[in-house]
Amino acid sequence: MIRPMLLLNLLFFSLSAATTFVSSHVCAKCHPLIYQEYMGSMHRKSSTLNDPVHAAVWAKHPLKAKKRYQCGVCHTPSDTRLISALKAGKAALPHADAIQTNEPIGCAYCHRIQKIEEHKVHNINVIEPEMRRYFAAKGGKTDEKTLKFHTVSSFFGLSKKTEGSPFHTIDYTNPIFADGRLCMGCHSHKRNKLGFAVCETKGNPTKAKKNCIQCHMPKVPGSFSTITHTKTHTFHGFTGLHNATERLAQSVKLEAKPHDDRLIVTIENQADHRLFNHPLRLGRLKVEVTRGDKSFSLDPVDFYTVLGRDGKPSMPWSATEIVKAHTIEANGKTEVKFPFPVQKGDRVTVTLGYFIVNPKAAAKLGITDKSLTTFKRLKSQTFAF
Ligand code: HEC
Ligand code: HEC
Ligand code: HEC
Ligand code: HEC
Ligand code: HEC
Repeated sequence: MIRPMLLLNLLFFSLSAATTFVSSHVCAKCHPLIYQEYMGSMHRKSSTLNDPVHAAVWAKHPLKAKKRYQCGVCHTPSDTRLISALKAGKAALPHADAIQTNEPIGCAYCHRIQKIEEHKVHNINVIEPEMRRYFAAKGGKTDEKTLKFHTVSSFFGLSKKTEGSPFHTIDYTNPIFADGRLCMGCHSHKRNKLGFAVCETKGNPTKAKKNCIQCHMPKVPGSFSTITHTKTHTFHGFTGLHNATERLAQSVKLEAKPHDDRLIVTIENQADHRLFNHPLRLGRLKVEVTRGDKSFSLDPVDFYTVLGRDGKPSMPWSATEIVKAHTIEANGKTEVKFPFPVQKGDRVTVTLGYFIVNPKAAAKLGITDKSLTTFKRLKSQTFAF
């Protein structure tokens, strides 16, 4: 047990206590659309105050009795008071303050991720020390330039215009902002104190056809700032199961065809991670058949990863193995066979959907909010035979 703990201490040591971040309210003045989207994103709702699911798991977590909110390194890293206390080995619990409410993972935090250090327990974000130097990609690519605010004159000085931001330097040289690796400090993996990976986003953003940013932060209409005008900007609401879900469905393809006396449904997943990857999620594939004037449903097929120990389900902090799983793998096709002989004239509607929290896990966690345990649709398609 000593080794993982030692490693954790080392990890916290490498986080700078002196780091402070400009508040996201300040960015809102010149980037109002991005700020508005961000306010509806899971990166704004990642704290125990704003996410009832995270709060429910934290309430039962053994670290709570020890007053060590270690979740903060990923869920609320903008809270420098909390991060410093963790680093100093002191009691560190989240308070109901402005940072936990409005910007647990703030604008400046993300835009100052200089590089990702890989570690066994979880990765670490190394933060750029300069308070007003923000990384960005230029048109989705890395550029040699660093842009400081300046005036450019043309027509022999007759007309002048400004370039850059009057508030901050923009650094276009950081490749992780172009290929999506900046997401992997928090999203790559997390091991419990027994060394078991309770969640993992297997993905290689540098090799994928599309990266995390292209699928989860698509271009949407509206200028990215009030000073420099653009037709589109990068969506900061982050498409996901909580927000802008319909956008994500484009990267999942469904197909249904008869084979002997079975119906074969193929799910093509273009993401470089499994679908419904978080162990709390439950995915479900439903099939409804209309034959003449009758309609009926086939038995649904579920997708899940159940964590546990000694072959039985357990809470994630005491899990040592995956006891049961049925998954939709990354970058490929998953076939599901239904024992159903299709007839000519049948209309078959296939629906892939999910529950934010697997109803069985919700009962154990005391989660009663029905919206978290009702079926939601990701994608639906009808096939006529
Ligand atoms: C006083 C206005 C102002 C404030 C405040 C401001 N910005 Fe900006 N920002 C700009 C302008 C103008 C640009 C565009 C510069 C250019 O491309 O010429 C910009 C560009 C950016 C870019 C790069 C966009 C790109 O791809 O070229 C990022 C990232 C960014 N800002 C982040 C932030 C963050 C984070 C904050 C708050 C901590 C913030 N900004 C606060 C004015 C501002
Ligand atoms: C290494 C970074 C990291 C650490 C440390 C971490 N998490 Fe998370 N957590 C994440 C990420 C990233 C997600 C989003 C993953 C997803 O949705 O698939 C997440 C999602 C969750 C969710 C699902 C939330 C929802 O809305 O359904 C719960 C619950 C959760 N974490 C609990 C915790 C608890 C409790 C701790 C501390 C004991 C913790 N996490 C520590 C990165 C982390
Ligand atoms: C989870 C990390 C994350 C958070 C939080 C975040 N950003 Fe970004 N931001 C990105 C990434 C990734 C890009 C896309 C790559 C790029 O252009 O730099 C981006 C792009 C931008 C751009 C360039 C937009 C464009 O259309 O070209 C601006 C400006 C910006 N962000 C400002 C902000 C502001 C303001 C906030 C807070 C309201 C914020 N960001 C919060 C990761 C983040
Ligand atoms: C500082 C850590 C951190 C970074 C960096 C980060 N995330 Fe997250 N992200 C989280 C956490 C924590 C959650 C889960 C919040 C919750 O459910 O409570 C999350 C949730 C999400 C979700 C789920 C949204 C939904 O609606 O269900 C998506 C998608 C996501 N992140 C994508 C990204 C992408 C893409 C990047 C890189 C541009 C990124 N994240 C960078 C910590 C991070
Ligand atoms: C080809 C598009 C695509 C790419 C690339 C992609 N994703 Fe996804 N992602 C999806 C789809 C579709 C879903 C919705 C189904 C699901 O939850 O698995 C999703 C779901 C998620 C969720 C879970 C939302 C939730 O609430 O459980 C997180 C977190 C996430 N992606 C992060 C990432 C990260 C980090 C990367 C980069 C390594 C990435 N994604 C790359 C398409 C993509």
